[in-house]
Amino acid sequence: MQTPDAVITGWGHYVPERVLTNADLERMVGTTNEWIVERSGIRERRIVADDESTCSMAAAAGRAALARARVSATDLDVIVIATTTPDYLLPTAAAVVQHELGATNAGIFDLGAACAGFIYGLAVARGLIAAASARRILVVGAETISRYVDWTDRSTCVLFGDGAGAVVVEASAEGPGIASAVLRGDGGKSELLTVKGGGSKHPPTLESVRDKLHHIRMQGSEVFKVAVPSMAAAAEEAIAQAGLRLRDIDLLVPHQANLRIIEAVAKRLRLDASRVFTNIEHYGNTSAASIPIALSEAIAQGRVHRGDRLVFAAFGGGMTWGAAVVNWTAAP
Ligand code: ACO
Repeated sequence: MQTPDAVITGWGHYVPERVLTNADLERMVGTTNEWIVERSGIRERRIVADDESTCSMAAAAGRAALARARVSATDLDVIVIATTTPDYLLPTAAAVVQHELGATNAGIFDLGAACAGFIYGLAVARGLIAAASARRILVVGAETISRYVDWTDRSTCVLFGDGAGAVVVEASAEGPGIASAVLRGDGGKSELLTVKGGGSKHPPTLESVRDKLHHIRMQGSEVFKVAVPSMAAAAEEAIAQAGLRLRDIDLLVPHQANLRIIEAVAKRLRLDASRVFTNIEHYGNTSAASIPIALSEAIAQGRVHRGDRLVFAAFGGGMTWGAAVVNWTAAP
C-alpha cells in the first residue's frame, strides 16, 4: 500500500484585540520605541483580555482552520497543541480545545518544544499520517506569554505577545504536501531561556513567587548567536531532504522572534526580502503561535499560491529548532 502524503488543507489564526504599543511600554519600563524597533523590529504586540487564555485562542484558530478545510470537528483523529503556556498542568490544552470544538473522536495531546513547537507538531502530524494512525489532524500553536513575562524586566517584556494559529493536516494522494521536517535540540544550552517555577522541581510557593521563578528569563544576545546558524542550517537540511535547492523556494515563513534574526537567516539562505514573510512588527514573538499566524496572514495577503514551495524555520527555548518544507497544494 502506498504511504499517504500529509497535506495542509486549512489554516487560521486568532490574536487578541488589545494592542500594547512601544509607546505604552515606554510608560511602563525604561525603554524607548527606537531601542525596541532597532533591536527587534517590533512596534506593537497583542495581549489577552482577562477572560481569554491559550485555550480560548487555540479554539478560535482551530475553528477557523476547520472551516477553511471544510472538515467537521468530529472528523478529527488527533488534536496536537504546541504550547509552553497551557491553561493548566492538567487537563492538557488539547483536552480543553477538544471539548470546546466538540471533536469527540480525536486523540489529544500537547507538545512542548517552545518556539519550535509548531514545526515539531507538523512533523508529528506527517508521521502519524504516514503510519496510517490518523487521517485528519489539527495542529495548533498557541501561547499566552504575557502571563509569564516579568513586566519590570525591560530585556524580555518588550519582545513577546499573545496569539494562536492552526492548520488542518490531512492524508492525501495529492501530496507530497509536508515534504520534509528537520528537528534539532540542545539541552546543554537550556539555561539561555527558562521559566524555572511551577514545575515539579520548583512547585509554586510563596517563596517561588517572591523570587520571581514563574517568569521568563532570557540571555537574549546569546540566544541570538545560536539562533541564526541553527535556523539556517535546519532550513538548508529540510530543503535538501525535500529534494530541492534554495532557488526553488518561493517563501520563507520563519518564527518571528526578532527581525534581525530573520534578516540574518534570510541572508545566509540567499533569499531576498520578497521571498521572506514577516509580521513581527505587529505581534512580537508569539512563540509556537508565530509561524501559523504568519502563514495565515501570508495567505490572506496573497503571498502564497498553489504550487509554491514554502520553508518554515524556528528556534526556541530548550534549546529547540527545526525546519519544514511544504509544497502548497491548497487554493487560497
Ligand atoms: N530598552 C532599552 N534598553 C534595553 C532594553 C530595552 N527594552 N533591553 C535591554 N536593554 C539594554 C541592556 O541593558 C544593554 O545595556 P548595557 O549595554 O548598558 O548593559 C543594552 O540594551 C544591550 O543589550 P543586549 O541584550 O546586548 O541587546 P541586543 O542587541 O542583543 O538585543 C535582544 C537584545 C532584542 C533580546 C536580542 O538579543 C534578541 O532578540 N535575542 C534573541 C532573542 C530570541 O530570539 N528569543 C526568542 C527565541 S526563543 C523564543 O522565541 C521563546
